[in-house]
Amino acid sequence: MSTIARNRIEVMHGVNLDQLGRRDPEHYGTMNYEELERYITEVGAETGLVTRFFQTNHEGDFVEHLHRLEGLADGVILNPGSWTHYSYAIHDALEMTGLPAVEVHLSDVDSREEWRRVSVIADLCIGRVAGKGPDGYRDALQVLKQTLTP
Ligand code: DQA
Repeated sequence: MSTIARNRIEVMHGVNLDQLGRRDPEHYGTMNYEELERYITEVGAETGLVTRFFQTNHEGDFVEHLHRLEGLADGVILNPGSWTHYSYAIHDALEMTGLPAVEVHLSDVDSREEWRRVSVIADLCIGRVAGKGPDGYRDALQVLKQTLTP
């Protein structure tokens, strides 16, 4: 019996993540967004996963992109930026995808302001990585690889 490879990972970044490189390096490091995409693409390939990217500063566009994922992705990595902490719209759209999802934050959200400790998508995610910078995406890819490998 042949098995169809489930290796398509949608990597979604939300509000202000396109500004990496200009944001506080103490929290977000020095890599800009394009460099981050390249890094994740390389790590994905090493892991045997194909990554595709989406970034927007518009919450409705983020939600509509989730709506369109059916049949196009096998797993999702999300860093919704500050929407993580309050967007029930993103929660509900992510729930509709039914896809395995991992939440990633470059910064250590749990040791920053109180409001950053809240994640309204955590209950839908099989993993959460924070405070490891770009390496956190490596962890997320590995979690998805394990989940998607038969
Ligand atoms: C972030 C953490 C959020 O609290 C913040 O609003 C961001 C980036 C991170 O990657 O550390 O924009 O998601």
